[in-house]
Amino acid sequence: MQEKDLLAMWNQRHTEAEGLGQVATVLEQNSHLIAPHSSALDLACGRGANALYLARLGMKVTAWDLSPVAIERLDTAAHAENLMLTTAVRDVIAIPPETESFDLILVSYFLDRTLAPAIIRALKPGGLLFYQTYTQAAVSDDGPSSSRFRLADNELLKLFDSLKVRVYREEGLLGDTQQGWRDRAMLVAEKV
Ligand SMILES: C[S@@+](CC[C@H](N)C(=O)[O-])C[C@H]1O[C@@H](n2cnc3c(N)ncnc32)[C@H](O)[C@@H]1O
Repeated sequence: MQEKDLLAMWNQRHTEAEGLGQVATVLEQNSHLIAPHSSALDLACGRGANALYLARLGMKVTAWDLSPVAIERLDTAAHAENLMLTTAVRDVIAIPPETESFDLILVSYFLDRTLAPAIIRALKPGGLLFYQTYTQAAVSDDGPSSSRFRLADNELLKLFDSLKVRVYREEGLLGDTQQGWRDRAMLVAEKV
């Protein structure tokens, strides 16, 4: 897909979508690991449910997305709640985050494998990566159909193998697939 078509697709999705999206499970279940008042980046933030969640925890939040529609919706929601966030329309592949610039980076339902080294570099020493996205092993039709945008088995562990794993969950198709947390993987990892 050409870049302008990609942008048009995301703008349309963000225009038509109701609400701001879901807070990522990796964040909700592990927010006790986060140091308050530290800096956080929501990378490819969409309409910003995660960015707002982090801001409500008292973090200094930066949120970037390719889509101006998404960023405008996030800005409106932040203003309504009197939350201070730094937002920008930014292509994070063309302009990745700067070296050692954040205490926490959250990536939710966005996968560009070439970006992994830049994400690691962008964490400050002791910084945490929170990552959650779809896996190729799945029991539902949720998420993108192309395996390019879905993780292979244990792939988050490989992409970020220089970080110290603190939380990892990926159930694949093991056991009773009607139960559990399926179709996705989550990682919390620390830059030591
Ligand atoms: C599936 S949405 C996930 C949004 C949000 N992280 C969430 O969990 O709700 C993927 C997001 O990636 C954004 N995106 C796609 N390519 C991008 C790029 N190169 N740079 C920045 N954002 C990008 C899209 O605009 C979209 O908001």
